[in-house]
Amino acid sequence: MKGPGKILTADQIEEAATLLKGGQLVAFPTETVYGLGAPIFLPESIGKIFHAKGRPSDNPLIVHIASLNQLDKVAIEIPNAFYLLASHFFPGPLTLVLKKHPSVPSIVSGGMETVAVRMPAHGLARSLIDAVGQPLVAPSANLSGKPSSTTAAHVLEDFGENIAAILDGGATCYGIESTVLSLLSDPPILLRPGTVSREEIEHILKRPIREKQKEDAVVSPGMKYRHYAPKAPVVLANAIPSFPIEGALVITDISAKNLYHTLRAADHLNVTQIVIVCTENVLKDAALMNRLYHAAGLNF
Ligand code: TXA
Ligand code: MG
Repeated sequence: MKGPGKILTADQIEEAATLLKGGQLVAFPTETVYGLGAPIFLPESIGKIFHAKGRPSDNPLIVHIASLNQLDKVAIEIPNAFYLLASHFFPGPLTLVLKKHPSVPSIVSGGMETVAVRMPAHGLARSLIDAVGQPLVAPSANLSGKPSSTTAAHVLEDFGENIAAILDGGATCYGIESTVLSLLSDPPILLRPGTVSREEIEHILKRPIREKQKEDAVVSPGMKYRHYAPKAPVVLANAIPSFPIEGALVITDISAKNLYHTLRAADHLNVTQIVIVCTENVLKDAALMNRLYHAAGLNF
């Protein structure tokens, strides 16, 4: 019988890399959320990620690189905007969609001719990629549709014995996922708001980018699925309710950093609903609001 997934620490990177090279799944920390990794050129192993998460096969995975030297095996016809953005934001929480190199297995890209690439800022993530010797594909390490994982305990809760190991790097720094930007259209399209803001990107590119529209579902298949949702319904409010709601948990201090932890904790309390008070600071945070809308089932 399989035991629970092993928790590995920073000094056990080689063990984590050996498991990955042997075709087993290992979760690892990034500066945003934990990822569930497999080597990019091991398609059978990548298949296990979709299976473990219950992820639809048309939802592509992000390729994590440790250095720009790994790019020429992953993407082709790389535009100047990529290098401009990479020089400011890599390593860091920005994912750029490029034209896929033909040798990248189609399971990575959900059958599309594109590939999403990011270089994580977390030292453990990059050391792991180096130790494996090839880029790692990794979605967020959570069951499909559920809140992402910001600690090793969250990963263990979702996957237990279904993955070989979790490389524990403590709580992640930002708490929500990277920004996803497609460089394959003009102007570039913000497919997912994230830790790097639209304004920061436009400042570097010196031109406007555009928000995704409903028609962009073709280039961003993940958009159509429900995400980040706890068991209890999430209700967004602009003030603390003035009357008691039986069994409800009212959250007044939501932030990008505590979002997923808070949603997961609410599940453990078996509350009837989660009321999240959106203060002015919350409303100003495009990435946080995007996740809250999704959690509340108000996809846009
Ligand atoms: O911060 C992050 O990005 C985390 C950490 C682990 O790196 N990863 C993450 O992966 O959030 P995931 O799979 O949960 O979300 C990736 C998003 C999905 O919405 C997916 O549809 C989109 O990126 N994506 C991946 N490849 C794409 C592609 N080729 N074209 C368009 N969208 C893509
Ligand atoms: Mg995810």
